[in-house]
Amino acid sequence: MYRSHNCGELNAGHINKEVTLSGWVQKSRDKGFIVWVDIRDRYGITQLVFDEERTSKEMLERAQKLGREFVIQVKGKVIERASKNPNMPTGEIEILVSELTILNKALVPPFTIEDETDGGEDVRMKYRYLDIRRNPVKNNLIFRSKVSMEVRNFLSGNGFIEVETPYLIKSTPEGARDFVVPSRMNGGQFYALPQSPQTFKQLLMVGGMDKYFQIVKCFRDEDLRADRQPEFTQIDCEMAFVEQEDILNIFEDLTRHLLKNVNGVEVDKFPRMLYDDAMRLYGNDKPDIRFGMEFGELNDITQHKDFKVFNDAELVVGIAVPGGNAYTRKEIDKLIDWVKRPQVGALGMIYSRCNDDGSFKSSVDKFYDQDDLAKWAERTGAKSGDLVCVLSGSTNKVRAQLSALRMELATRLGLRDPKVFAPLWVIDFPLLELDEETGHYHAMHHPFTSPKPGQLELLDTDPGAVKANAYDLVLNGNEIGGGSIRIHDKETQATMFKHLGFTPEEAKEQFGFLMDAFQYGAPPHGGLAFGLDRLVSILGGQETIRDFIAFPKNNSGRDVMIDAPAQLGQEQLDELKLQLKTK
Ligand code: AMO
Repeated sequence: MYRSHNCGELNAGHINKEVTLSGWVQKSRDKGFIVWVDIRDRYGITQLVFDEERTSKEMLERAQKLGREFVIQVKGKVIERASKNPNMPTGEIEILVSELTILNKALVPPFTIEDETDGGEDVRMKYRYLDIRRNPVKNNLIFRSKVSMEVRNFLSGNGFIEVETPYLIKSTPEGARDFVVPSRMNGGQFYALPQSPQTFKQLLMVGGMDKYFQIVKCFRDEDLRADRQPEFTQIDCEMAFVEQEDILNIFEDLTRHLLKNVNGVEVDKFPRMLYDDAMRLYGNDKPDIRFGMEFGELNDITQHKDFKVFNDAELVVGIAVPGGNAYTRKEIDKLIDWVKRPQVGALGMIYSRCNDDGSFKSSVDKFYDQDDLAKWAERTGAKSGDLVCVLSGSTNKVRAQLSALRMELATRLGLRDPKVFAPLWVIDFPLLELDEETGHYHAMHHPFTSPKPGQLELLDTDPGAVKANAYDLVLNGNEIGGGSIRIHDKETQATMFKHLGFTPEEAKEQFGFLMDAFQYGAPPHGGLAFGLDRLVSILGGQETIRDFIAFPKNNSGRDVMIDAPAQLGQEQLDELKLQLKTK
């Protein structure tokens, strides 16, 4: 038996008990005649003591040679500690060791296995198995497991069946590039890894499964960011015989269940915001509503003077920064530099200070008088002591820029408290989105999303105006889920493909299986998928999903621990009938 207890459970109640523990050497303190060693496992740390008198000289010498991260087993008696540590669950006791076995030696780890480590990101990723021994990473993985379990509990309890769908499939259009896998048995042909199980879950509805879910890996070849990984996990769900309202209700319940059971937080009914309002008020389809700073559009109250920058702009829009009038000129200049960084891309920023005496002082006093500036303040909700920041330009760009500024300032002002949860639904997304580079429309959610009733005809005349039965679940400024009511008849699906620029042949080639299935009694259906990694990290109070994934990829899509991706040998290439182009 390797252990009778774990390293986190012994306390004063166990005094005089003989125990066996196994774990890693966290650290040791050697006073010559006495040695204390901390032994660690997943559950905690327990102090071991070796000394000449009470144990033996031989054992003391062996203990002195233990290195960090050695794997050891000890037998001994639980005794009361002379100097207690009230900050540790095991802080009242120590183990007087009678037997020490070294189960495995360890090289000196390349970074310290402590909560605050000296290891940079790169080295921690290369030795991720050591990183996982650290509390912050270990606790995140335990937290993730709890969230997944609560998801399964809730969905099973509500009659959902977990069904696995294949990974070796044909392309599913979710807007990214596919990862592909060559087929040895079908030389020159490729599978695509699923960007999501979208078409399969719809086929499960045709198959009568009614309420499906799956905690499933998805693969997308896209540019990576803090909230994106090339392989990530969805809680993928689909239901038949439902309307949008049914879906919003059940998955709102799931989210509320998680907030309650994982975070101990009760949240009221989630607000619902139209996509158009989210864009107008927050410049963003995933607004963080933990704080205000809503946009105030200023065109009508700024475009009547000689200020050409505003007069030429499609949109003039501002926000009030609470307490911002305290910023010095230098600080405001820095803020202007911040919005001009290429990542944000504004050409400049106009501001107006709201003084305590009710007067205003703007960077464009030449053009705007006190009455004008009072209107800016009113429109943006600015009070005395605030600063109104105004950007102008083409609508989409300016909204994105001001949204970036809003989030940055809120972070600086400490308004984004990770312990506060502000979920909301964003609904009525446009069906199509114009790709500004190609001038073509593509599906904003995916091509299986149904237009709002009665809007199909608009597709011919004003495609950009067609709204979809599509919704996103947003939590603290992050899109944690998205879905839609689907098209379930062949004709509408064919019309949709036509508008997305598919010829009938191409549509049949790629999605014939789905349109065929629609002819055999497809029920009305819809669903959504949560991004599990994002959900877990936000519930865990963080925004970098890598920290909640056991073995994540870096920003270049590499696993630096196993060194993937890697080249294939010639033999394997030949077997797969692949020829690499050499320049
Ligand atoms: P969507 O593409 O919106 O919808 O994806 C659903 C959710 O998955 C998460 N997500 C990601 N998380 C980490 N890394 C990524 N690269 C990544 N991409 C997406 C997001 C997102 O909200 N089939 C549809 C769902 C449906 O219609 O039912 C789909 O995949 O949190």
